[in-house]
Amino acid sequence: MKGVVLAGGLGTRLAPMTKITNKHLLPIYKKPMIYYPIQMLVDAGIDDIIIVTGGNSAGDFLRLIGNGKQFGARHIHYTYQEGEGGIAEALGLAEPFMEDEKMVVVLGDNILQKGIAHGVQTYKSLPDDHAMVFLSEVEHPWEYGIADVQEGRITRIIEKPKEPPTNLAVIGVYMYPPDVFDSIRTLTPSARNELEITDVNNIYLERGKLKHEVLDGWWLDAGENPEALLRANLIVAREEGVDI
Ligand code: G1P
Repeated sequence: MKGVVLAGGLGTRLAPMTKITNKHLLPIYKKPMIYYPIQMLVDAGIDDIIIVTGGNSAGDFLRLIGNGKQFGARHIHYTYQEGEGGIAEALGLAEPFMEDEKMVVVLGDNILQKGIAHGVQTYKSLPDDHAMVFLSEVEHPWEYGIADVQEGRITRIIEKPKEPPTNLAVIGVYMYPPDVFDSIRTLTPSARNELEITDVNNIYLERGKLKHEVLDGWWLDAGENPEALLRANLIVAREEGVDI
């Protein structure tokens, strides 16, 4: 399996912090935000990784991450997303790199307390045409992709619902077979003019090929807004034993 870290976008919800730099380069405790998803992939045995960047400071990713040796990665590749076409469009740019392998996709601002090593093993045991997502309880469900779960099964996923059916967010870690790129080609832009990853997940759901797990431990969408960034800094620092 290969890994994809999505680190594009203009980060407008974090302006002016993102006026001249990329959101994923902002600090979380004592490291740049993007360090956490890269290390999480390597720790789960995913050491061939592509970073999809874009927006401000795209060249700084190369200076910061280099060949990935510091994370224990075998190799790091880079590509560039023009504009803000959405998560699914950014993932589509990874197609030439994937060479028919399954993949783990991580949003560059997502930080997980316990990593994904267990989830990767579960995914590897599924049939080859399945996708997999993780759910985590949130306090503001209208800010996320939310799963409607009936009797333990996801019946639909709704992106930023005005009337959330549950508080179970689909977090920004996704596992897909190589045919995900065919699914992306069928998408049309949403109301916010983006290709939505939620639409991709719903394609697998409709085929009966979407596995889900409820995440163990905390999950942070550190780049959601300034409050989330601040909270992420405090939680990660405390996790590392800082009395703050
Ligand atoms: C994105 C996804 C959403 C998901 C969230 C997790 O939201 O669209 O489904 O729950 O990431 O971080 P965005 O960050 O684009 O608002």
